[in-house]
Amino acid sequence: MMLKSVIVSGKNCGALAKEVSSRLGVPFYQAYTRSFPDGEVYTRLPKAVPEKHVVLFVCMGKRPNHGLIEALLLADAARRHGAGEITLVAPYMPYARQDSVFVEGEPLSIKAVAKLLEEAGISRVVTVDMHLHRFKGVEEVFDIPAINVSAVPLIAEYVKRKYGSLMVVAPDEEASQWASIAAGVMGSKYFVLEKERSGDEEVEITGYVEAAERVLIVDDIISTGGTIQRASSLLREKGVKDVVVGCTHALLVGGAEAKIFNSGVIELVATDTVPNPYAKVSVAPAIVSALEGVV
Ligand code: R5P
Repeated sequence: MMLKSVIVSGKNCGALAKEVSSRLGVPFYQAYTRSFPDGEVYTRLPKAVPEKHVVLFVCMGKRPNHGLIEALLLADAARRHGAGEITLVAPYMPYARQDSVFVEGEPLSIKAVAKLLEEAGISRVVTVDMHLHRFKGVEEVFDIPAINVSAVPLIAEYVKRKYGSLMVVAPDEEASQWASIAAGVMGSKYFVLEKERSGDEEVEITGYVEAAERVLIVDDIISTGGTIQRASSLLREKGVKDVVVGCTHALLVGGAEAKIFNSGVIELVATDTVPNPYAKVSVAPAIVSALEGVV
């Protein structure tokens, strides 16, 4: 028998969780989360959840450590208060870029995070455009059922409505999976640049630039903005007039926005997986499609 579902949102995720709850017709509750003066996390479920399937929304973009603890504590609370099943919706999955032991002595961070979530009693994970590069699929990362949906078709549709079909650019090999999806939706072509990273903020982008007046650069994450800045500058040097950028997770740390727009980008189209001023596309339809069979 399928348990009755409720959606419970952690901090920073309420608007997205509410939108998903109204599309699915599942009750919505906001959890209470705050920080103690020393930085520890306090959180509380809004109500008892006996024998319910609790769908926890936790938005961890820009607050990876705080968000992870919030997810673990809310899962523990849900279990203690009788939840029969817990699905974690993590629109942005942190620590996915450390998907390998690159240098001796390093952890395999994404596996450590997956283990923590599983041990907290979470029975299923739903996420969006997880940074999957060295793992072929999300099912290789988690030992519980996991669904990774993409916001890139929604971004590409938005861009196509506004600008028509654009040539798509992947700023590096890792982004070619998203560039290929965007080009497929727009019925256009894509090409892939090469990226070399020498530090958190230092990247070099090189490669052959196809002739085009206007292009769409697609990436999963914008953090410091260095990747987009370098890619956009190269494209403009090689004759591209207008650069539009689409990305799922706009973390936009430090001076990322200035870097991006000073490099000639005319528009940034991001989503609401992370609260940000460029969230023009909601990932709600993609999350609804992942949850439809399970709530
Ligand atoms: C990593 O390869 C990701 O796909 C992004 O390209 C990266 O996180 C962007 O970081 P930044 O904005 O700091 O260049």
